[in-house]
Amino acid sequence: MIREVLRMGDRRLLQPAQPVTDFGTRELAALLVDMRDTMAHLNGAGLAAPQIGVGLRVVIFGLQANPRYPEAEPVPDTVLINPALEPLSGEMEDGWEGCLSVPGMRGIVPRHRRLRYSGFDERGVPFSREVSDFHARVVQHECDHLDGVLYPMRIRDFSRFGYTDVLFPDGGVAPDD
Ligand code: NI
Repeated sequence: MIREVLRMGDRRLLQPAQPVTDFGTRELAALLVDMRDTMAHLNGAGLAAPQIGVGLRVVIFGLQANPRYPEAEPVPDTVLINPALEPLSGEMEDGWEGCLSVPGMRGIVPRHRRLRYSGFDERGVPFSREVSDFHARVVQHECDHLDGVLYPMRIRDFSRFGYTDVLFPDGGVAPDD
């Protein structure tokens, strides 16, 4: 079921989410169905459970190759629960971000360029990956939601924060996540 996405200003987006303790439940399966439906409906690249008002440490993300976003490398469809992130170098990289909770806007956000993330899939099976660039950016953005952090809170240069259609009148920027 497509759910309403909370928008910036809603206090629920600022609250730390709680770890999932029971895997393989009907409730968790239903939450993931709703998250996938909502993300697909809005053409997002990622969604965190707190964005639909559920205070659990659950994120989904994924992006197929899309000619509209030539600079965004594909990211596999992933369910990541109770995530832990570990930067693999001190290297930071600036990149454009958007967010379904901050519709119609984009900003430049510094993120770790390389990291390892680990967590659990929806059955409770642990996994980890080492990723870089856009994949690493998406993971950091989504996991920030679990700690009540929205990307505008990480912007350093507000001269490059604005409305998507004004910043990019010809399109071609990465999708909301
Ligand atoms: Ni977001």
